[in-house]
Amino acid sequence: MLSTPWSRETGLRVPIVNAPMGGVAGGRLAAAVTAAGGLGMIGMGSTGTVSRLTGELESLGDISGPFGIGLVDWVRAREPGLLDAALAARPALIAIGFTEDFSWVDRVHRHGVATATQVYDAEHAWRAAAGVDVIVARGAEGGGHGAPTLATLPLLDAVLDAVDVPVLAAGGISSGRTLAAVLAAGAAGAWLGTRLSISTEALTPDRTREALLRAHGTDTLTTRVFDIGQNLPWPPRYPSRVLRNDFTRRWAGRENDVADATAARDALAAAMAADDPAVAPVDAGQGVGMLTESRPAGRIIDELCSVAERALRSWAAG
Ligand SMILES: Cc1cc2nc3c(=O)[nH]c(=O)nc-3n(C[C@H](O)[C@H](O)[C@H](O)COP(=O)(O)O)c2cc1C
Repeated sequence: MLSTPWSRETGLRVPIVNAPMGGVAGGRLAAAVTAAGGLGMIGMGSTGTVSRLTGELESLGDISGPFGIGLVDWVRAREPGLLDAALAARPALIAIGFTEDFSWVDRVHRHGVATATQVYDAEHAWRAAAGVDVIVARGAEGGGHGAPTLATLPLLDAVLDAVDVPVLAAGGISSGRTLAAVLAAGAAGAWLGTRLSISTEALTPDRTREALLRAHGTDTLTTRVFDIGQNLPWPPRYPSRVLRNDFTRRWAGRENDVADATAARDALAAAMAADDPAVAPVDAGQGVGMLTESRPAGRIIDELCSVAERALRSWAAG
């Protein structure tokens, strides 16, 4: 079985954590990842609320092991009670991302819960590791929001040199080969987003799922158009990697014009309500080209881990 010192200490059978993808990683996906031996995470993204979190916690059902909850820092600050509700659920891990302010860490630790955050350079990692238990080195290849600073492998290298805490690798890990690569490079585990976003348990709606399955690795870009188009207060340093579509073809490169384009903003809202990926945002990393079919998360994880294990064994055998 594929494992690392961190996965063994954490009581996981495999060194896999699903990224807490807002609107995608609900209780069903978290439960499936935990059942597969990884750490299942519920994600509350930019639309996270206490009632949404409560609903997804109910969907965890009779979870068979540890789980975690991921929050976006500016949403935590906006939604009173969200962090309290997360703590009350007694997760093994709380990840709060998109921040350089780690004042929440002590509060989470007082509840006996471990902490994680995503980082984008060695300096950020070093500051986070003064309190945070697990650092996620999230490379620019990754789907969704993040600072597109360094690619996953150079970032992982820099972060491993900067900190002594376990480091999970994130960004573009969509196959057993890339999983083997980050583990061989020293990651304590992998934090998978895009690869699990098309699992049958994910909340991803049907047409978005089909767009992900059709996409090639070259079909993504990093942009703020959708955040500006929805008037979301994402800090500018965290754009999102999404699939190219009609909306990005029209507005990427002139993001600030979207703020005043009422018709375009209305069309975006309508497309999101209708699950129309030709216009609505579809978060996806550069590993999207490896997605070929929607399958249960447990089967995806089993396959990634057995391919990675074989690759690492043949590498070690020389
Ligand atoms: C559909 C989707 C939604 C995401 N939503 C969130 C989120 O709400 N909070 C968060 O911390 N990260 C979110 N992310 C980013 C992931 O945490 C992670 O950085 C990324 O998925 C890793 O790259 P990969 O997608 O190539 O695996 C999201 C990613 C995707 C693909």
